[in-house]
Amino acid sequence: MPAVVIVGAQWGDEGKGKATDILGSRVDYVVKFNGGNNAGHTVVIGDQKYALHLLPSGILSPGCVPVIGNGVVVDLKVLFEEIDGLEARGIDTSKLVVSANAHVIADYNRTVDKVAERFLGSRKIGTTGRGIGPTYADKMNRLGIRIQDLFDEKILRQKVEGALELKNQILTKIYNRRAVEVDEIVDELLTYVDRLRPMVADTPLLLHEALAADKTVLLEAGQATLLDVDHGTYPFVTSSSATTGGACTGSGIAPSEITRVIGIVKAYATRVGEGPFPTELFDDDGDGARLRTNGAEFGTTTGRPRRCGWYDAPIARYAARINGVTDFVLTKLDVLTGWDRIPVCVAYDVDGERIDEMPMTQTGFHHAKPIYEYFDGWHEDLSTCRTFEDLPQTAQDYVLTLEKMSGARISTIGVGPDREQTIVRHDLL
Ligand code: GDP
Ligand code: IMO
Ligand code: MG
Repeated sequence: MPAVVIVGAQWGDEGKGKATDILGSRVDYVVKFNGGNNAGHTVVIGDQKYALHLLPSGILSPGCVPVIGNGVVVDLKVLFEEIDGLEARGIDTSKLVVSANAHVIADYNRTVDKVAERFLGSRKIGTTGRGIGPTYADKMNRLGIRIQDLFDEKILRQKVEGALELKNQILTKIYNRRAVEVDEIVDELLTYVDRLRPMVADTPLLLHEALAADKTVLLEAGQATLLDVDHGTYPFVTSSSATTGGACTGSGIAPSEITRVIGIVKAYATRVGEGPFPTELFDDDGDGARLRTNGAEFGTTTGRPRRCGWYDAPIARYAARINGVTDFVLTKLDVLTGWDRIPVCVAYDVDGERIDEMPMTQTGFHHAKPIYEYFDGWHEDLSTCRTFEDLPQTAQDYVLTLEKMSGARISTIGVGPDREQTIVRHDLL
């Protein structure tokens, strides 16, 4: 019966991939329910490092069925490149299932993503340039191409024609680009049909039957709460629902099936791309740079340096509320080794007024200045700690302080990138 959700509680890159992988051997299905190859999830198993973009992290667990849900947008070229890359490394990908209702990222949407960013200039979002936003826009605009359309050439051609009628106007008249031929899109998509066909299924039915048979289904988010199109720092967000609600719409699993919601939260904070980030550190040679170096904070997808800052407790509480977090996984505690004292943002100063929760408006959040409390740090290496009691007392106190401020219990603590570098306080399943 259990359907368990994993979501990012900050701005992404919290370590969702590692958390999913830890549970992978104990679950029957892992479903990616939102986003596409804008995601970058790094999983370290012994001396092997895997960077997953489109495939669910469960693909690395031999016993479990990885599912690309209906809420995902699929770049088919990337899908097969990623499959081939893993197969070449000895990973069996043959169980992968893809929803018939997932949308396809067509080449013109990658073009629109990139040129739209250039047109926005200083107002740009800092997207990954993978065509994510324009593909979700087509979906909402009812001009999208779905996986199932590829199996009926006549329908596919009609849909591509319909989409290009509008898209070519935009490309040529607004963005000054060449028009796209229907044939080039259709011909490319048809090259994937034979490989794709055996993977495609009615995934909501499959998952419903799995839950009815008492199987465990893990729903793995891409991106995070503050990048969610409804609940994030709009417009500096991705274009999908990265929160628990999105796990339901993006998989076809009903809210009443969800038994646990695991929020992944870093012991500090990072962000890639544009948009507000109250605790950001701007120094080039101080704490921000040190967090970036110690935490290897460079994007898995685009290689961009991640913006770094201190833990923001109102954000964690907000994520706990929006997602109904039952358990937090606190990641990268080991990265904080070496500071005498560690600031934690406990509230904001918004134009002279103390605000304890996430401000209601975009303007409020842009003006929010962190109000910090300071906690004693530690200098010991945490990477070999395996129980809570192994942690130095000040690190234990830091975790307990964050737990008190963040709205849910901290059940698991990460002290390194490897599967084994994990402290379990409460079982996640
Ligand atoms: P995701 O997008 O949420 O899956 O996160 P990313 O994979 O983009 O970024 C998290 C990075 O931190 C990866 O390189 C992980 O290998 C690494 N990582 C995860 N947990 C820990 C941890 O507890 N300690 C350290 N030092 N690294 C971690
Ligand atoms: P994971 O799953 C961090 C950010 C981009 C940009 C904004 C919109 O690894 O946590 P998009 O290409 O989605 O339209 O870009 O969202 N972004 C991410 N930041 N981690 C991610 O994924 C992200 N996916 C998108 O940097 O600011
Ligand atoms: Mg990532």
